[in-house]
Amino acid sequence: MSVGAITKAVFPVAGMGTRFLPVTKATPKEMLPIVDKPLIQYAAEEAVAAGVRELIFVTSSSKRAIEDHFDKNYELESELEKRGKRELLEIVQGVVPEGVSCVYVRQPEALGLGHAVLCARPVVGKDPFAVILADDLIDGGADPCLAQMSRLHAEHGCSVLGVEEVPAADTDKYGIVDTEDAGERIGRLRSIVEKPRPAEAPSRLAVVGRYILTPRIFDLLAATPRGAGGEIQLTDAIARLLESETVLAYRFHGRRYDCGSKLGYLQATVEYARKHPELGPGFEAYLKGV
Ligand code: UTP
Repeated sequence: MSVGAITKAVFPVAGMGTRFLPVTKATPKEMLPIVDKPLIQYAAEEAVAAGVRELIFVTSSSKRAIEDHFDKNYELESELEKRGKRELLEIVQGVVPEGVSCVYVRQPEALGLGHAVLCARPVVGKDPFAVILADDLIDGGADPCLAQMSRLHAEHGCSVLGVEEVPAADTDKYGIVDTEDAGERIGRLRSIVEKPRPAEAPSRLAVVGRYILTPRIFDLLAATPRGAGGEIQLTDAIARLLESETVLAYRFHGRRYDCGSKLGYLQATVEYARKHPELGPGFEAYLKGV
């Protein structure tokens, strides 16, 4: 079966980011920079590279900086123009590429990832869509993770979850899937469970922050009661989706950095600085001397 490309991506950015306090008291976690770009911009660029044309941000009152980042800044642009800073002007104007639009939806209360996705329903409508969690930064090189998943979705016409193997001790930080082999790097989901203890985990395959979902997920989310941590869990609705539709788990090519944790954030900063075209050589030399 062949289906249309994914053109809408939802970015849930309404969480409180408590693991990064105090920096996240007034600054959204998704605006933390990796070298010179905020996490949310890497996520948006990954979506656009996969063919997405509508970026849907699920925000809260403390996340206005994200809207400002993707908005036009006339004052800054005219100042850069006046000073002849063409390169910087292009960087600023390129934050949202031509033909791409941004939509903002509010999640009035942080009731969980599932609830945040449900808030995007009126904008997403009846098409399959992507969900990207910006704090999972994935370096897919020339073939970004969502583009890989989008091709799989186009081929199979079903929901696709980005997964990777995690250490056994870490299963209680993720949604964990049980799968049966369905091709190279592809598994058909048999079950999914949120944050199981290592002894109870069906595998070590964890869902990371990349999803392509069919719109049926919205009905299921609307009927999902609060689960683990008192939140409406996306994992619980996916478990219900499995009862009526095929869901694939895909072990993507690329390296993921868990930028929701301080260690993962620092690792990403170091690795992205090392391969930065201007900073790389100088930073590498600095690291050698440390
Ligand atoms: P996290 O579990 O990382 O929560 O959410 P968090 O609040 O961002 O961070 P910590 O754990 O307190 O440090 C995963 C993703 O889901 C979004 C978050 O913004 C993040 O991108 N989310 C979570 C929402 O949009 N709404 C929610 O109610 C919960």
